[in-house]
Amino acid sequence: MKAAVLETYNNFVWKEVVTPKVKPGEVLIRIKFASICGSDMHIFPGDFHPRTPIPFTPGHEMGGVVEEIGEGVSGFEVGDKVAVDPIIWCGKCPACLRGHYPACTSLKLVGVDLDGGFAEYISVPQHMVFKTASHLPDEHVALVEIYGIGFHANNRAETKDGDSIAIWGAGRVGQVILQAARTKTKSTIFMVDPLDKRLEIAKNHYENVITINPTKENPVEAIKKYTDGKGVDIAFEAIGHAHEFDGVPTPIRACIQSIRGAGKVVVLGLGDDPAPIVFKELIWKEAKIVASRVSHGEFTEVIEHLNAGNLKPEALISKVMHGSQIQQAFELVQNESQNYLKVLLDFSS
Ligand SMILES: NC(=O)c1ccc[n+]([C@@H]2O[C@H](COP(=O)([O-])OP(=O)(O)OC[C@H]3O[C@@H](n4cnc5c(N)ncnc54)[C@H](O)[C@@H]3O)[C@@H](O)[C@H]2O)c1
Ligand SMILES: [Zn+2]
Ligand SMILES: [Zn+2]
Repeated sequence: MKAAVLETYNNFVWKEVVTPKVKPGEVLIRIKFASICGSDMHIFPGDFHPRTPIPFTPGHEMGGVVEEIGEGVSGFEVGDKVAVDPIIWCGKCPACLRGHYPACTSLKLVGVDLDGGFAEYISVPQHMVFKTASHLPDEHVALVEIYGIGFHANNRAETKDGDSIAIWGAGRVGQVILQAARTKTKSTIFMVDPLDKRLEIAKNHYENVITINPTKENPVEAIKKYTDGKGVDIAFEAIGHAHEFDGVPTPIRACIQSIRGAGKVVVLGLGDDPAPIVFKELIWKEAKIVASRVSHGEFTEVIEHLNAGNLKPEALISKVMHGSQIQQAFELVQNESQNYLKVLLDFSS
């Protein structure tokens, strides 16, 4: 088969490699589309070294069809359309023993810690494979994993109908939090981002979305104004490395200032720098801060919503390129990140 091999950092080679053999308990999948994630953009230049075992094939957001079924596997047929949940937990650490798998101390991902889906085939254990409806476009199946992040964040927040929401960051993660939130609440959703193009994607696809550009107005003041001083029920931070703007509080502090008393803040951004907050502001509200990492059982929920047409995958897809053009695709996202949300790689032909 052909695969995109990261032979040295910053350098993909599209080459012939051995097609994986399906082992007992596994499903061999013919990949149709895989999607480039923000963490792939860190793997590419070597930020994850030595966790990433180069040479290797990244790709943890993928969809395809079942090509072959391993011994002992039930519930799948050749030709089924499927998405792959890339998470591998240890099952033995204190978090795993409590069933809290996203907090596994040795969490691994297919496509980060071992070969992944930027290839024509992958073979993975049956429990990582999730069937979708056959009518779904192959491109959309590759987005199940990233949607899982958005649904998990909302499940961590226990978002329910009537909840108003503010999302800091209208990038890939912020947009899937928005789409997942919209399946749960019809109330106002505020999107905060300095990039108008990204704010427009949110506004153009959903009713009752109010966009706030922090270079033009103070998001905390704007949210207070629109909610008659009350604040929102839930605020999400989905930025990571935040830009700073004069006179505007840092995003996590702004999230705390924007929620109502006893509201919730959910943090997802994986920045490396400390983010100053004033705990008094949290304590006065007796508010909760909750962290959200990857997903935990949300694949089924995502697929139900995709099958039913409740999500807007086209709003996320900026560009589709053939798998053989992976080097150009990564350079494009690296050099013009603000112009692209999801770039998909086509391995179907
Ligand atoms: N917790 C998880 O499960 C999980 C999963 C995937 C990614 N992440 C992390 O989430 C973060 C976001 O990922 P992404 O792929 O959406 O990145 P992205 O670059 O597509 O989006 C980040 C957005 O934040 C905006 N931004 C920057 N500074 C801002 C500010 N001060 N106020 C408001 N918006 C601001 C940027 O303009 C950009 O649109 C990253 O740190 C990523 O590593 C977390
Ligand atoms: Zn990812
Ligand atoms: Zn564990």
